[in-house]
Amino acid sequence: MENRDIDEIKKDITMSESAIESVLQEKRLFTPPAEFSQKAHIKSIEQYHQLYKEAAADPEAFWAKLAETELHWFEKWDKILDWQPPFAKWFVGGKINISYNCLDRHLTTWRKNKAALIWEGEPGDSRTLTYLQLHREVCQFANVLKELGVKKGDRVGIYMPMIPEAAIAMLACARIGAPHTVVFGGFSAEALRGRLIDAEAKLVITADGGFRKDKVVALKAQVDKALENNSAPSVEKVLVVQRTKEPIHMEAGRDFWWHELQKNASADCPAEPMDSEDVLFILYTSGTTGKPKGVVHTTGGYNLYSHMTLKWAFDIQDTDVYWCTADVGWITGHSYIVYGPLSNGATSLMYEGAPRKSNPGCFWDIVEKYGVNIFYTAPTAIRAFMKMGEELPKARDLSSLRLLGTVGEPINPEAWMWYNRVIGGDRCPIVDTWWQTETGGFMLTPLPGATTTKPGSCTFPFPGIIAEVVDLDGNPVAKNQGGYLVIKHPWPSMIRNVYKNPDRFRRTYWENIPPKDGQHFYFAGDGARIDEDGYFWIMGRVDDVINVSGHRLGTMEVESALVSHPAVAEAAVVGKPDEVKGEEVFAFVTLEGDRIANEDLVKELKQHVVKEIGAIARPGEIRFTDGMPKTRSGKIMRRLLRNLAAGQEVAGDTSTLEDRSVLEKLRGGA
Ligand code: WTA
Repeated sequence: MENRDIDEIKKDITMSESAIESVLQEKRLFTPPAEFSQKAHIKSIEQYHQLYKEAAADPEAFWAKLAETELHWFEKWDKILDWQPPFAKWFVGGKINISYNCLDRHLTTWRKNKAALIWEGEPGDSRTLTYLQLHREVCQFANVLKELGVKKGDRVGIYMPMIPEAAIAMLACARIGAPHTVVFGGFSAEALRGRLIDAEAKLVITADGGFRKDKVVALKAQVDKALENNSAPSVEKVLVVQRTKEPIHMEAGRDFWWHELQKNASADCPAEPMDSEDVLFILYTSGTTGKPKGVVHTTGGYNLYSHMTLKWAFDIQDTDVYWCTADVGWITGHSYIVYGPLSNGATSLMYEGAPRKSNPGCFWDIVEKYGVNIFYTAPTAIRAFMKMGEELPKARDLSSLRLLGTVGEPINPEAWMWYNRVIGGDRCPIVDTWWQTETGGFMLTPLPGATTTKPGSCTFPFPGIIAEVVDLDGNPVAKNQGGYLVIKHPWPSMIRNVYKNPDRFRRTYWENIPPKDGQHFYFAGDGARIDEDGYFWIMGRVDDVINVSGHRLGTMEVESALVSHPAVAEAAVVGKPDEVKGEEVFAFVTLEGDRIANEDLVKELKQHVVKEIGAIARPGEIRFTDGMPKTRSGKIMRRLLRNLAAGQEVAGDTSTLEDRSVLEKLRGGA
């Protein structure tokens, strides 16, 4: 772990042991309904085992066969896998374009006039784009990008609300080979700027604003701020979608309206044959050190893996309306709103808004309105629905649903059971999918027609994934013992690098558990255990990443934001368990000598973090202290702070603590 001593990680795992006691008791089993299995792509556990065995025996042959049958290639590869640990290349020499696989190839089939995207805006407007229409829009927009000087290899920033143009922009970039970097619309101007600078983006695509929770989110104003005084000098042009029609500033020569350029653009734009290993996108995600890192994904392997995982784990059928409630700013939106569904020729539903006071039941309205068959959301949303009560979903017809999914954080068995009963009507299998920005697609997941599920467990590895739970020396731990989740063989959509930072790539993912006898371990950053039946149970992050409402945040990112405020001398941030959000940001702060701790300052500091990062990082609680508990070598003992934040007794060894009185004071909330 970057900047962390391994001893402390060890203690984290021991600590989490007690936390899993409750799920150890979880013995309920849910077998797939026979009717579901009969029609599913993968129909039985025997079939899963067969696939798993075949893939484990020869992963390269397994993936090559699927790449050939499931995707279109302009030219076939010369080599399936080139593995120079920790750098992997898949389908080397192959030529492919993911926009072609998501669009063009469906046009010669009956899917030409099938709905590709069904979109619902928060104010109630809606739009459906067939494959033919989406293809046309993407081709036109790809020509707009070209006209504005975007060339193959140029990076394009996308900072958009959840509107069809977000998907169109991504696909258009992919079509001409310009890697996109999508920045979640909830991130602040500061956070956006940092990402644009790191990616050296040439152009930014945004909107005047978006509608979310009955408010207008002024995106263009944030872009203006991010670019002010030429502070992201690589950015030459900005393209603006008109969504809210609120007045905005348009800078002459720099800013252009999407609709004006799109109107006259030609719809003739053949997909560029990309090298399988050409970069498809860079997506920034939080890690242990201060700055978010640019996770690099390439074309061929990512196309194959997002396609196959959606097909098998969500059992996509041609008649399905599939809805993933994520935002395209996260990996879930990339793989499972845009690329995976469209590559499969599925109908993907996109929603601009979120449950809110004026319409807490909006999700169930949409399920009913469009007859949604497959629904994919996060445990934090499920827990929020539980709090709102059963009346809202019960007031709507949810009988179209046949499969449910969850992602983002461990799901507690209680929420799982509620989801199963109230939303799934006791008839829909639940797929709890464990994966990460870095993995590109599902790694551990049930296959719904095959896998008997246990509430709270993400069950088994996807075929072709060799996963294990090990100790710090890479040795498998005993059954039901906590350890580190690792992946032991490269997979097609594996993170290729940290953008412009191969050292960080190596350190973060490949050195925490050092290679042994030629075996390399991809270290996921999660603790896990495997039970007596071989089921995986995720125990949560073991590094300094916290998970707030399913969103990944680096504690050091929040700390840097806090110490950039003039009143703050030192800050330490930990996750505090929260019933709905999973975790909440809890900050311990020491002030500069003359500053007085009061409520106004608390407010100011919270607002400062929102300005630096975005609302998702707003501390739930700030506790002022005159000192931090530190080791003799000066390291903050976060483990103790985590205990304190959770209101628990300080557990484990405190003998390395330099000044014990600090702990006493912190307990008292001094
Ligand atoms: C957590 C989101 C338990 C985990 C796709 C991981 C999960 C991090 C699950 C990645 C799950 C994701 N059960 N924990 N089903 N899915 N996580 O990069 O800690 O935003 O490392 O990708 O979310 O978050 P990321």
